[in-house]
Amino acid sequence: MRLGSAVFLASLLALCAAGSDPPRGVAVGFVFDPNAACEPPCEHAGICIRNNTCLCGSGYEGESCQHANCHPKCKNGGVCLRPGKCRCPAGFGGRYCHQVACDGGCWNGGGCVAVNGVAKCICPSSWTGSECQEAICPQGCRNGGICVAPGICSCPEGWLGGACHTAVCSRPCLNGGKCISPNKCRCRSPFSGPRCEERVKSH
Ligand SMILES: *[C@@H]1O[C@H](CO)[C@@H](O)[C@H](O)[C@H]1NC(C)=O
Repeated sequence: MRLGSAVFLASLLALCAAGSDPPRGVAVGFVFDPNAACEPPCEHAGICIRNNTCLCGSGYEGESCQHANCHPKCKNGGVCLRPGKCRCPAGFGGRYCHQVACDGGCWNGGGCVAVNGVAKCICPSSWTGSECQEAICPQGCRNGGICVAPGICSCPEGWLGGACHTAVCSRPCLNGGKCISPNKCRCRSPFSGPRCEERVKSH
């Protein structure tokens, strides 16, 4: 039973008045029975006004005023804990569980959306990962390079280039030799040596 407290007070006053004067057909919202017993007992400051009838305080409802009510109602499967306070399921937040919430947030411009009731980051094209935390390098990062920002590889020592594909020889390869891995030259015939500096003797 739900009645406003103003109605309750008015009714009590009416009952007190009825006690001193004989009732003259005054319509009372409900009858307050001082010997009333409510089982289970009224909760959350509800008042037992008749046998097994509780008058609930504001914010509560139910047979024994056991349920808090939330206005607006808790959305997305949220549970009303106390008046106006929802407990939200994972993936939802906000006062009424009306907002999608991605744990840890969505980085780099990603947006949190509900997909089949599950919160999920939708990432901009150059980012990926559950929180859009991983950059995408379309060119690939080779030789142990790491993609640190969209299209940007961080290369290990000895490698350069957009995809870490260019070996670095600290001292250049001579005589047309080619640097094929860090400090390693591939020499053209008839040269050899670490930097292709030696001419191989021909017989
Ligand atoms: C309320 O319940 C009690 C005990 O269960 C009973 O004696 C009493 O008559 C009831 N009152 C009314 C108004 O029915």
